[in-house]
Amino acid sequence: MKTTILLVSTFLLLVQARYEDDYVVNNRTFPKGFKFGTASAAYQIEGAWNEDGKGENVWDRSTHLYPEKNSNATGDVTSDAYHKWEEDVELLKGLGVSAYRFSIAWSRVLPKGFANESNPAGVTYYKNLIAGLKKYNIEPLVTMHHWDLPTALEDLGGFLNSDIQEWFVDYARFLFETFGDDVKEWVTFNEPKQTCDQGYGSGVLAPNIVSLGIKNYICGHNLIIAHGKAYRLYDKEFRAKQQGRVTMVVDSNWFEPASNSTEDVEASERSLLFTYGWFAHPIVYGDYPEIMKVRIANRSKLEGFNSSRLPSFTDEEKQIINGTADFMTVNIYTSSVAQAIPEPDITPLDPKRDLDIGAHIYQPDDWEKTITDWFKVVPWGARKLVKWISDTYGHPEIIITENGYHDNGTVINDLNTRGRYYKLYLSNLLDAIYYDNVNLTGYMAWSLTDDFEWQYGYNIQLGLYHVDFSSLNRTRTPKESSTYYRKVVTTSCLVDTCVE
Ligand code: BGC
Repeated sequence: MKTTILLVSTFLLLVQARYEDDYVVNNRTFPKGFKFGTASAAYQIEGAWNEDGKGENVWDRSTHLYPEKNSNATGDVTSDAYHKWEEDVELLKGLGVSAYRFSIAWSRVLPKGFANESNPAGVTYYKNLIAGLKKYNIEPLVTMHHWDLPTALEDLGGFLNSDIQEWFVDYARFLFETFGDDVKEWVTFNEPKQTCDQGYGSGVLAPNIVSLGIKNYICGHNLIIAHGKAYRLYDKEFRAKQQGRVTMVVDSNWFEPASNSTEDVEASERSLLFTYGWFAHPIVYGDYPEIMKVRIANRSKLEGFNSSRLPSFTDEEKQIINGTADFMTVNIYTSSVAQAIPEPDITPLDPKRDLDIGAHIYQPDDWEKTITDWFKVVPWGARKLVKWISDTYGHPEIIITENGYHDNGTVINDLNTRGRYYKLYLSNLLDAIYYDNVNLTGYMAWSLTDDFEWQYGYNIQLGLYHVDFSSLNRTRTPKESSTYYRKVVTTSCLVDTCVE
């Protein structure tokens, strides 16, 4: 009997699976209760950069002072979500999603960064948005910092000043007190790797500080402790009453070993640990990955430093940060290949983080391209990455907090590009759930609407809804991908018909 059932279901699976180019699209349904949503960030969508008492943040400053670093664009108005949030909530309702990830602009609620002076209009804006979402049973997943540090704090050293740990705790307290009765899912920081590597390393992102190999590690260090302290604050003063969860959003590529040689497999593991593990290890296990500590300490010594360029946690700090992710997250867009190389030369005056990793990381030319040089479409990488996270961190609950497709923003008929991207990535994630036993419970598509895309300005877009940035009204138009995503959200199925 059992064999017959097995044979019939295998047959059904084979018959109903759909082929998309080389890919077989998974035709099972997403598990009951799986959370589908979309994601966004304050600076990228709100506009109203100096309205109603908002203070300046590092992106306001960077786009105003260094237009050339930001494709001559600003987020001064962008998609104007500050004024159009009600329309955006209607779009979310129309999509049928059960969650919306957005960020609070620190300088909109605390204009000078410190908690001694708040901005009632900013608070009202987020209160209204949260109430609007809850009216339609859309759960808010709120990011506290998505790259827009108030300049008042940057002027004091920003993430390079260890006082930021306490500034952030004060900000977190303000948010828990003000919004915590309605917000049950908190993200402290978005993509700390980018905040630190690009904000205080390559200098590509605000505050545009260049110091690869030194300041990016200091930034990461302060940020991790700030996260840990905010988490402990929640434990101590808010969790019992508010019953929410707190985590950090970490991003990573999958790093495919260049071959199955031991050296390449190790290069892949090392790249994952230096990328995802840089932040995930401390908040899950209380310290940096051993390989990071050892390699950076060794190279620092050879470079002539007296101590490692990677700061170390005190025992007390380890206790604070250990076990501070109530669930794990990952933002995934693309993948790379990692190849073993001979130990890179020591360059005492120019230490670099990528030399610390000690691997050649690249994307093969024959991987499918988008318009962005670093972004190739690699759906199978998503499955491997979540499986790696699951294996490495003890089978935690995982939510995909961002995933989306770059184009130039003019394409409304994006079913075969963005729609297909979503289908193939989601199919691989579904494979991870069913075949790799990964405890994946949610997926946030980036992004609801077109927006300001950081250093690319408006030259690339990822929205499910097109925004006409030349119209006063910032008119939203559904792209074909939004119709496909609505279908997925409402049926939990990627193809025409699914088997259970
Ligand atoms: C960031 C988003 C960004 C997206 C698309 C992520 O790294 O968190 O803010 O818009 O990538 O490139």
